[in-house]
Amino acid sequence: MMYQARNNNQYGQSILRGLVTPEKAKVHAQTLANSLRKKFRHLSRRFKREGIDCFRLYDWDSPDIRIVVDWYAGRLVVAEYERKQTGPWYLPQMAAAVAQVLGVTKDKVYIRRRHTNIKDKPRYKKLNIRGERFKVRERNLWFWVNLSDFLDTGLFSDHRETRIIIGKLAKDKDFLNLFAYTGTFTCAAAAGARTTTTVDRSQSYIKWAKDNLLLNGLLSAKHTFIQSDVKKYLSRAASQGKRFSLAFVDPPSFYKNEREGVSFDVNQDHPGLIRDVLKVMRPGSDIFFSTNHQRFKPHFEGLAIKEIIKLTPKTIPEDYRNRNVHNCWQIKT
Ligand SMILES: C[S@@+](CC[C@H](N)C(=O)[O-])C[C@H]1O[C@@H](n2cnc3c(N)ncnc32)[C@H](O)[C@@H]1O
Repeated sequence: MMYQARNNNQYGQSILRGLVTPEKAKVHAQTLANSLRKKFRHLSRRFKREGIDCFRLYDWDSPDIRIVVDWYAGRLVVAEYERKQTGPWYLPQMAAAVAQVLGVTKDKVYIRRRHTNIKDKPRYKKLNIRGERFKVRERNLWFWVNLSDFLDTGLFSDHRETRIIIGKLAKDKDFLNLFAYTGTFTCAAAAGARTTTTVDRSQSYIKWAKDNLLLNGLLSAKHTFIQSDVKKYLSRAASQGKRFSLAFVDPPSFYKNEREGVSFDVNQDHPGLIRDVLKVMRPGSDIFFSTNHQRFKPHFEGLAIKEIIKLTPKTIPEDYRNRNVHNCWQIKT
């Protein structure tokens, strides 16, 4: 069965819009393969020199081919931004073309369907429980990734350059990592920081973050891991007089916890979140605030801060064609 998008023409007749026929799909597969062959040659050499195992090979480069291809140390994640013009056969066909041109066997190709409208979609839900994880390198750091069980893999490579900035700034600081996910920023800060505090509401991601620290030989008593809702943690930390000198704050675009009666929409709620973070920061600190909401509208006016510097798109790696993959600011207190 083929999915079809329909429009009405001036006579009220139903017409098809942008339908991807099997013939068109063959052209897409060929275009994708040609583009990847060239790009892989260029990027793999360059990243190998830098000790980077994971990078983006195709980033919806052509408007008709809504595919994203990521390389994970010899494995591939091929994703399609969901749409009605293609059927369930389309993504496997694109994945097969990509695998063939890069000489990757079928068992090392993982396909993902992504939604452009993510509100109310449970992004961090488990897809599988195969538990296959393997190590990948990003310069001087190693991370565990899992391509089979979740929509996201454990590593957001679009923040590769931001990790360097945090790593350099962390020396002798008390680092707070909020919405920490698998703790990749904690790993970047861990060697130099005086202390680190890693907060995420998911127990599995807190464990993953500890495993990442251990993998880098960095797990020690100066690192604290807290499974908590961020808002609740910040209010507790403020009343206990905890203070930090560097923070990385990377909330999801939306979240809802009906049981606890909490919900968050980054567009509406980021000023309040930053205000809560400011209550636990010492004067002279840096807060890095990041979001991957594609239609984010910043409202930083009225915050009690010294300066705010927009870091993106300068910090977005060259393999990301989408220069809006995330937006990131450095806030000085
Ligand atoms: C966008 S990811 C953060 C990515 C991370 N900064 C990185 O670069 O690897 C969002 C994370 O926020 C966590 N999260 C969602 N809602 C939360 C809440 N209310 N309190 C704490 N963590 C939450 C999720 O479990 C997930 O790990």
